[in-house]
Amino acid sequence: MGKVIVVTSGKGGVGKTTSTAALGAALASKGKKVVVVDFDVGLRNLDLVMGAERRVVYDIVNVIQGDAKLPQALIRDKRLESLFLLPASQTRDKDNLTAEGVEQVITELKRYFDWIICDSPAGIERGATLAMRHADTAVVITNPEVSSVRDSDRIIGLLDSKTLKAERGERMEKHLLLTRYDAARAQRGDMLKVEDVLEILSIPLIGIIPESMDVLRASNIGAPVTLADARSAPAMAYFEAARRLEGETLPIIVPGEKRGLLDKIFARRAA
Ligand SMILES: Nc1ncnc2c1ncn2[C@@H]1O[C@H](COP(=O)(O)OP(=O)(O)OP(=O)(O)O)[C@@H](O)[C@H]1O
Ligand SMILES: [Mg+2]
Repeated sequence: MGKVIVVTSGKGGVGKTTSTAALGAALASKGKKVVVVDFDVGLRNLDLVMGAERRVVYDIVNVIQGDAKLPQALIRDKRLESLFLLPASQTRDKDNLTAEGVEQVITELKRYFDWIICDSPAGIERGATLAMRHADTAVVITNPEVSSVRDSDRIIGLLDSKTLKAERGERMEKHLLLTRYDAARAQRGDMLKVEDVLEILSIPLIGIIPESMDVLRASNIGAPVTLADARSAPAMAYFEAARRLEGETLPIIVPGEKRGLLDKIFARRAA
């Protein structure tokens, strides 16, 4: 049975879609069967970032409404055999994404894939709660700024109350992925410090993705950054985050700082 991950944030524009594509490609590049699912009905961005927009014929709403079977809507990645996209519709009414329909689709995907990665829409409304409903694990995308951290805190509250896991009294596994981290701005004190974000949100960190033009370049050529330029700083950070998602323990280095984050936290505690 596949593992369902929701990539969520509350605040918009923080890097959910970028991270869904990058983590999906990183996991698939190791031979895992991965599907990235676009829950952002109406906006439909994931197909663009994956470079599949011209190949979309059927979408998740078509599957839910019975106009297409699931395999007809799945688009295989041009570069990776084991990576697939289930697109969202651009024009349909958001209400067409029903709770029962989503449940059917996720149940079927779990039979075929190792990882099902759900790209959540922004906000805390129905679309976001539907995207997180069936998740085993949440990746909370946060930028090091007050409004983003505040919205992530709200999303953590929803993850612990509105999901199937919460209803069953089970614990939702949650990970923090700090994105668009600008070392120069951090040094000037223009952004929240990593330790402050960790203290507020209090969930384990799986990576820090630097702010980088490489992300924009990758999205311009329609490729996840982990495939467009696997040796770039953001790609390497995403590859490491994917390994941590798989359960590996690796030290986390804050971009622009020499000491590992754990050393720093331990040093502070000891002080
Ligand atoms: N590490 C990064 N460095 C530079 N730009 C980034 C980085 N991560 C994301 N971006 C850019 O930020 C913008 C928003 O990213 P993205 O679409 O992934 O966010 P999102 O959370 O999915 O947004 P929405 O809430 O609208 O769905 C995009 O233009 C993307 O290229
Ligand atoms: Mg998005």
